Amino acid sequence: MNAKITATAHYVPERVMTNFELEKLVETSDEWIRTRTGISQRHIAAENEATSDLSTKVANSLLEKRGIPAEEIDIIIVCTVTPDHFAPSTAALVQNNIGATNAWGFDLSGACTGFLYGLETGSKFINSGKYQKVMVIGVDTMSSILDFTDRDTCVLFGDGAGGAILEPTESGSGIFDSILHMDGSGGHFLHVPGGGSRMPATVESVQAKQHYIRQDGKKVFKFAVKGMADVSERILKQNNLTGDDIALFIPHQANKRIIDAAANRCNIPAEKVLINIDFYGNTTAGTIPIGMNEAVEDGRIKDGDIILLAAFGAGFTWGSILMRWDAS
Ligand code: UT7
Repeated sequence: MNAKITATAHYVPERVMTNFELEKLVETSDEWIRTRTGISQRHIAAENEATSDLSTKVANSLLEKRGIPAEEIDIIIVCTVTPDHFAPSTAALVQNNIGATNAWGFDLSGACTGFLYGLETGSKFINSGKYQKVMVIGVDTMSSILDFTDRDTCVLFGDGAGGAILEPTESGSGIFDSILHMDGSGGHFLHVPGGGSRMPATVESVQAKQHYIRQDGKKVFKFAVKGMADVSERILKQNNLTGDDIALFIPHQANKRIIDAAANRCNIPAEKVLINIDFYGNTTAGTIPIGMNEAVEDGRIKDGDIILLAAFGAGFTWGSILMRWDAS
């Protein structure tokens, strides 16, 4: 029994921060950010807006689009590295906000690959035959861990959420292959040093800005190009597919140059590659479900289409998923 996506939704905070605004905060330029990353603007959460708020908007929209009451949801998986709290989980907050009284769930920390980890996990629950409706949300409020005096990171990220409902299908469509990886030896190249049990928050750690995200961009770039291209190429090959068979490639949006390199390696032409990094920046676990929902709403994804997803992120984590779309 495959799992298929029966509804998609996304939400981004109202406030838009342009590259020109960042020029006033750090030594950077709109030209540098656009040419090095492809980003023109990003959305930033309001002061009273947290990850569960973004997720709840997506969850309610998913229920409305699918036309089902919250009581029908069996499991809620919130993929995020920026939860509201360590405890309770963001999933529990979303469960309460939407009134999913029959659901259990959990948060999943897979960074930029979070939504792919979530889809894989959710689809296995569906495969088991025990669960009928699993909600998977990819969401990050990156502004909550961004140091707006650090140009190496603050120009890259944004806030946003997207999600999907997974349900069983007997038609052979839906998610039909996945390759997922993790290599913890790369952890220190992209991390948040403080705030966990390794370095609990103290006045000193906060003053030393240990609770912000830090990245060795050049190192991560090299691994990301190789990781995303390898895993995309491999999943096509092991399914006897080529770039021509793919209707749409939805890659994680960290850098347009990484996306172009992965698409080139798989011979996927530019018109079949979803790129929205210009508008949102890198929303970490949010990028793929945001892109997927935009593509569904624009009619770029139709029933029968083969869709390739690929991501690379902190951990390191990376992976790819193939599915045949069947929303009917
Ligand atoms: O989603 C999670 C995974 N993350 C990623 O995949 C991100 C991967 N890394 C990247 O996307 C890129 O490495 C960056 C966009 C972070 C940086 O691009 P780059 O082409 O690798 O730049 P660089 O680090 O080699 O820096 C080139 C120059 C340097 O100046 P010099 O040494 O050549 O004089 C930097 O100091 O650009 C400078 N620079 C900046 N200039 C203006 C670095 N950041 C900025 C900035 N504005 N924000």
